[in-house]
Amino acid sequence: MSLAYADAWDAYWQNACSADFTDKEVDQPLLSRLWRSLFLEEFRQHCPAIMLEVACGKGAVSEIARHCMEEIPGPSPTHLCLDYSLAAVKTSCQRANPDAGLVADAARLPLQPGSVDLIFSQFGIEYAGKEAILECARLLRKNGLFSALIHYRESAISMESQNNHAALSQVEASLIFARARVLFKAGFATSGSPEADPAFRQADQSLAPAVSQVTAVLQRFGPGVAGGIVLQFYRDLGQMFNNMQAYELTAILDWLDRMEQELLSYRQRMASMLGAAMDAGQITQTAQQLETCGLKVEKCSPIESEQGILAWHLQGRAR
Ligand SMILES: C[S@@+](CC[C@H](N)C(=O)[O-])C[C@H]1O[C@@H](n2cnc3c(N)ncnc32)[C@H](O)[C@@H]1O
Repeated sequence: MSLAYADAWDAYWQNACSADFTDKEVDQPLLSRLWRSLFLEEFRQHCPAIMLEVACGKGAVSEIARHCMEEIPGPSPTHLCLDYSLAAVKTSCQRANPDAGLVADAARLPLQPGSVDLIFSQFGIEYAGKEAILECARLLRKNGLFSALIHYRESAISMESQNNHAALSQVEASLIFARARVLFKAGFATSGSPEADPAFRQADQSLAPAVSQVTAVLQRFGPGVAGGIVLQFYRDLGQMFNNMQAYELTAILDWLDRMEQELLSYRQRMASMLGAAMDAGQITQTAQQLETCGLKVEKCSPIESEQGILAWHLQGRAR
């Protein structure tokens, strides 16, 4: 279950890592400051020997940890970054230069019980389920710290994910990809004018309602929905339809396959975010279970900004 969306995340990080990419969800100055002060205090007062970032993504938080380590004299902790996306781990290694990058499921951390002094995660560990959070308690050495920022169910990020998910589900349900394939194949099969060909006309009539549905999606959710990929697809489809003679059929079909896969991955990523976000009842219950697993919970509270609540902060220290 926890691996259900691994391919969707890997596809995302492959694209994100190749572009000059910023992620408004995770590149928040307020959150960066929180991590910075946490690392500085922890490195000064507890000198962790081994620290681990779980579900590190592109390594934004590990990079903060690295800078903080460089500011504190004395031995640095062994620094591990873990994610189930290879593309994410590679980027984290380039960016934050940890001692090791681990490609693994956060629900099955490949480390010995009682072996880690600091485990941190930002919008990550909750994707692997509550058990992954409880597993951290088992991995921590005495006095070790677990600190995680966790998706908040009612946050602006969650609301946006819900819209993106709904919009992409509607695009999928329109069958626009399947119908566009039929249309282009019919268009290239005819030697004369496609409009005179009955098969093309029928394909055109069957594509029209799908195009109307996607138009309605853009009107309802706005042109920026799902990072603008629906609009991009819609425009490119219109361009190809109106200039079919300028393209090769195989190129159009490949493009349709890629776009369909990209929209599917995006929707799956949104589904994984929505499934991971916690409400007040869930976070309180998780905190109580962490206590049962031997942690003294120090924080279980929302992080608020001018834009509203950004995340839950769940933090505890092993007794
Ligand atoms: C929203 S991103 C956050 C990334 C990073 N922590 C940050 O703040 O930039 C969620 C990350 O969790 C990772 N992830 C999701 N489920 C996972 C699992 N079961 N095991 C390991 N990583 C997982 C994804 O690959 C992705 O990198």
